[in-house]
Amino acid sequence: MVAADEQTRLRVESLRDQIAEHRHRYYTLSAPEVTDAEFDALVRELRELEAAHPELDTPDSPTHTVGAPPSAAFAPVVHRQPMLSLDNAFADDDLRRWAERNARILEGAAPCYTCELKVDGVAISLSYRDGRLERAVTRGDGRVGEDVTANVRTIAGIPDRLRLADPPALLEARGEIYYPVAAFEAMNEARERAGEARFANPRNAASGALRQKDPRITASRPLAVVCHGMGAVEGLAVARHGEFLALLGQAGLPVAEQTRTFGDLDEVSAYVAYWGERRHDADYEIDGVVVKIDELAQQRVLGATSHGPRWAIAFKYPPEEQQTVLTDIFVNVGRTGKVTPFASFEPVRVSGSTLQLATLHNEDQARLKDVRPGDTIIVRKAGDVIPEVVGPVLSLRPPQVEAAGPWRMPTTCPFCGSPIERLPGESASFCSNVDCPNRLLESLAHFAGRGAMDIEGLGYETARILRDRGLVSNLADVYRLTADDLLPLEGFARKKVDLLLAGIEASKQQPLERLLIALNIRMIGGTVARVIARHFGTMAALQAAPAEQIAAIAGVGPIRAQALRRFLDNPSTGSLLADLAARGVRMDTETVTVGDALAGHTVVVTGNLAGFTRDEAKQAITDRGGKSTSTVSAKTSVLVVGSDPGAQKVAKAAELGVPTVDEAGFAQLLETGIVPG
Ligand code: IVH
Repeated sequence: MVAADEQTRLRVESLRDQIAEHRHRYYTLSAPEVTDAEFDALVRELRELEAAHPELDTPDSPTHTVGAPPSAAFAPVVHRQPMLSLDNAFADDDLRRWAERNARILEGAAPCYTCELKVDGVAISLSYRDGRLERAVTRGDGRVGEDVTANVRTIAGIPDRLRLADPPALLEARGEIYYPVAAFEAMNEARERAGEARFANPRNAASGALRQKDPRITASRPLAVVCHGMGAVEGLAVARHGEFLALLGQAGLPVAEQTRTFGDLDEVSAYVAYWGERRHDADYEIDGVVVKIDELAQQRVLGATSHGPRWAIAFKYPPEEQQTVLTDIFVNVGRTGKVTPFASFEPVRVSGSTLQLATLHNEDQARLKDVRPGDTIIVRKAGDVIPEVVGPVLSLRPPQVEAAGPWRMPTTCPFCGSPIERLPGESASFCSNVDCPNRLLESLAHFAGRGAMDIEGLGYETARILRDRGLVSNLADVYRLTADDLLPLEGFARKKVDLLLAGIEASKQQPLERLLIALNIRMIGGTVARVIARHFGTMAALQAAPAEQIAAIAGVGPIRAQALRRFLDNPSTGSLLADLAARGVRMDTETVTVGDALAGHTVVVTGNLAGFTRDEAKQAITDRGGKSTSTVSAKTSVLVVGSDPGAQKVAKAAELGVPTVDEAGFAQLLETGIVPG
């Protein structure tokens, strides 16, 4: 061991300061400035320096504490048993070394391993005294947490009483509170529409919702919990971790359905690999797998360090967030004329693919994120695929970038030079030129795309050629194209031309709903277009309908109705529709009207139905005026339970008193619309 020199001492001090600051930002402000991986790297470096120079290791070092000190807003509570953290494994070798060390301590006794998803949520300890929820406490610094009971009581999935005939005197369940991913995406979109900043990730959103001073605000957020461990207990005898989880499930506490127990480490590795490929399949974000020795007697033998238990280890997946440098912010003009800023950055590999562009959504979002060309930024893939800029790393902002000030939306369109305008009260900006060449390209590609007019052979590149050659200057021009126009174009052989013209001809028969989707009308997507087409039957009836009549259709509402009316009232729309009709494009719907049997009802389907795919079941519900959603809430009218259903959905329905039907009941429901009482 070498005595620490002055430089090492200073580095240790600096690491401790940085770690304290990042913890404060992460836990207390819910606004981290660095990625989890960068934070872990700082802690790892500090731990290595302390191991090499024990004289620098002090009991108050952040390597011996977890989380952040409790904030002053919620009453501090000393945990009956500390809420520890976990050691990490990053590769199979780390797992093997962990298992070998345990085997030595356990003197050869072969353990069983319980494998669980590592939920990226907010750690919580729920204590039930004689079966009643007594207190809910955050982790805080691991020893002292914050009393958030009033807020936690508002979370629908957390029972106030355990469903046990003979509950133990004390049962402390440890778990994670999370913001379901689908609800998170929807909430962020709503925030964006309202001109508010998007939350960086579901974990921050959950933490923010949980730490509200007014429990009514927490109640309005769709928080959920998943329990994964045991805290202090009295009057409870269980021998295995898996047994404890099963008991929690019986007691009505949500536990993860993906948990498995294995007798062999290869199976553990296979589980880790399996979930590594399916990180986004659960309805919460995960950042790894936690492997635990199942037998509690063996856990006791192994014990814990000040950091975490020796009987468990977290296998962490590679980070999905990376740093890169923002080179520029450009704007694009989309098919509705909307101007969208996007970030262009140095290519960086994130979760298996190389990213270099990401949308910044609109002027407000770009300014709220305050990323500037020259900034080091954090990027990641939101959900499974969409590249997203999380924010700038302010500590790395160069002075000249600071001096340049925030980014501003350009005042003129980069494609046609027309003024860029922002509608009052909206966050979106528009190119004021309806014939903007970039808008034409985007709208043409959309018009011909799948789900719209579905013209085979007319993809983005062909659309670009047709526009550049001046063959198409509005959508109806597609139906004027002839072989003589196309054959002279480079790469357009006879066969290709024939296919394209046949595709164009066939598209004339697309029903009204497809035409409505194809016309690039703001806020009119597939579901709304179907509802509107079914309601009016013909384009002429829709053109004659006042905004109030459109708004009154279930699922449409005044904002979409206004956008649609604005589109229909535009004189260029009138001539476009007349032109399309004159070229033989169909202007009515063929959807069989199946009535409004499910109007006003929200239906959730779980598991497989023999007669329907997921999409068909959804379609059958929406065709009847119902709403099809994927999460059970107090607003759900009925849960349709197929084979192999999601246990959590069924449990939630039981808890909320939502009626359930099987497949036969679903058929009846579609026919009669009568929801069982
Ligand atoms: S067991 C004694 N199981 O990850 C600590 N933790 O990075 C036992 N976490 O502090 C923790 N999912 O807050 C455990 N299935 C899971 C988990 C899990 C998420 C959290 C937990 C822990 C942190 C460590």
